[in-house]
Amino acid sequence: MFKFAALSAFVALVPLLVNAQVAAYGQCGGQDWTGATACASGTACTKVNDYYYQCLPGSSGSSVSGGSGSGSTSAPSPTSTVPTSTSSASTAPSSTSTSSAASSDNPYTGYQIFLNPEYASEVQAAIPSITDSAVAAKALKVAEVPVFFWLDQVAKVPDLETYLAAADKQGKSSGQKQLLQIVVYDLPDRDCAANASNGEFSISDDGQAKYENYIDQIVAIVKKYPDVRVVAVVEPDSMGNLVTNMDLPKCSAAAPTYKTCINYAIAQLSSAGVYMYVDAGHAGWLGWPNNLAPAAQLFGELYETSGKSAYFRGLATNVANYNALNTSSPDPCTQNAPNYDEMLYINALSPLLQQQGFSAQFIVDQGRSGVQNIRNAWGDWCNIKGAGFGIRPTTDTGSPLIDSIVWVKPGGECDGTSNSSAPRYDSTCSLSDSLQPAPEAGTWFQQYFEALVTNAVPSL
Ligand code: GLC
Repeated sequence: MFKFAALSAFVALVPLLVNAQVAAYGQCGGQDWTGATACASGTACTKVNDYYYQCLPGSSGSSVSGGSGSGSTSAPSPTSTVPTSTSSASTAPSSTSTSSAASSDNPYTGYQIFLNPEYASEVQAAIPSITDSAVAAKALKVAEVPVFFWLDQVAKVPDLETYLAAADKQGKSSGQKQLLQIVVYDLPDRDCAANASNGEFSISDDGQAKYENYIDQIVAIVKKYPDVRVVAVVEPDSMGNLVTNMDLPKCSAAAPTYKTCINYAIAQLSSAGVYMYVDAGHAGWLGWPNNLAPAAQLFGELYETSGKSAYFRGLATNVANYNALNTSSPDPCTQNAPNYDEMLYINALSPLLQQQGFSAQFIVDQGRSGVQNIRNAWGDWCNIKGAGFGIRPTTDTGSPLIDSIVWVKPGGECDGTSNSSAPRYDSTCSLSDSLQPAPEAGTWFQQYFEALVTNAVPSL
């Protein structure tokens, strides 16, 4: 599902930067930084975090070294001039004009997350074949954890109505307001840089119109249940592919349609009051210094074209991935990356988004992040062996930028098949750190589920 690029390009570039002047948005310092520290005229070396200083526009060429060996650790803080958002939706929430949103703005605050019935039944069905009774008892607890409902085919949209009706009923009978979490995931030419999750629509076969119809169906249903709050992750991997995989013909050809479709989704879902977090890859993808600025620019453009919808709340990171939220011991596969966990990635991306006028808030998938140091390479993503369920969903996130820790990927659903003769076979799913044999993406993978249960941290 996730394509990894630019790591090797970045590593190769580092020696060339020594003694050079750093262009706008380039890295100019940070712990262990050995590259150039002089910023191009019109930019200043600005601390993003201890590991990452960046040449940001704003003042004339100054040079502040953030390398720990340099002895200099003081650098100006990023400036954040943030315009107040205007909303295109009449019932839009007020948005904040400060860099860390007040918690009262958090769409999760005051709501109970409705349990995804599809996942609960997958988990219930998995229990009888678990032979170890201690594991079975733990597995049962997973049915109580809210995960997102993936609308990965238009045929699943009617289930949304069933779940919204149930959530509405539960909210009214319990007096506890309900929040339903969905993933909007049906772009034409989906998963353009990989094969495992190729979707049902193709651009050449009227895919854009079919996608718009899919969004229209979702919107019509959501509007029937105004008392249930809906939070959506929008199109995993799509924007990341537009940042790093434009050298692939399928991605570059799909780019304009991806943008049109995502803009359409944001506008229509805003009209239904759906709070959206657009997928932003993860630390090991867009978190690389060379990728941060182009990513921020793309998200800034999207925010702009959305009419700065206040329902476009921010970005989702680590969806279906395995990265830690916040760790003191970087996973060796992160190879001295400055932003080796999701918190560092978010802290680095946020000021760049602010400069684009986008006060983005974040949600972070930790569903399969319980265990670290299990990947041979940071870019490996398919059914990684040894993974465990991670931190439970909570709004106690440790960061004013993060609205909630969430479980987006329903753990136990497969990332991609290892069957090399299947049409959606992606060779990534046959790497030595992938559990095999693996069934089709999205289908139940019992052995993987049991491993996630057994390896869960915190334990179930
Ligand atoms: C993969 C699958 C998709 C599934 C999702 C969540 O992306 O392609 O069908 O819904 O994972 O498990």
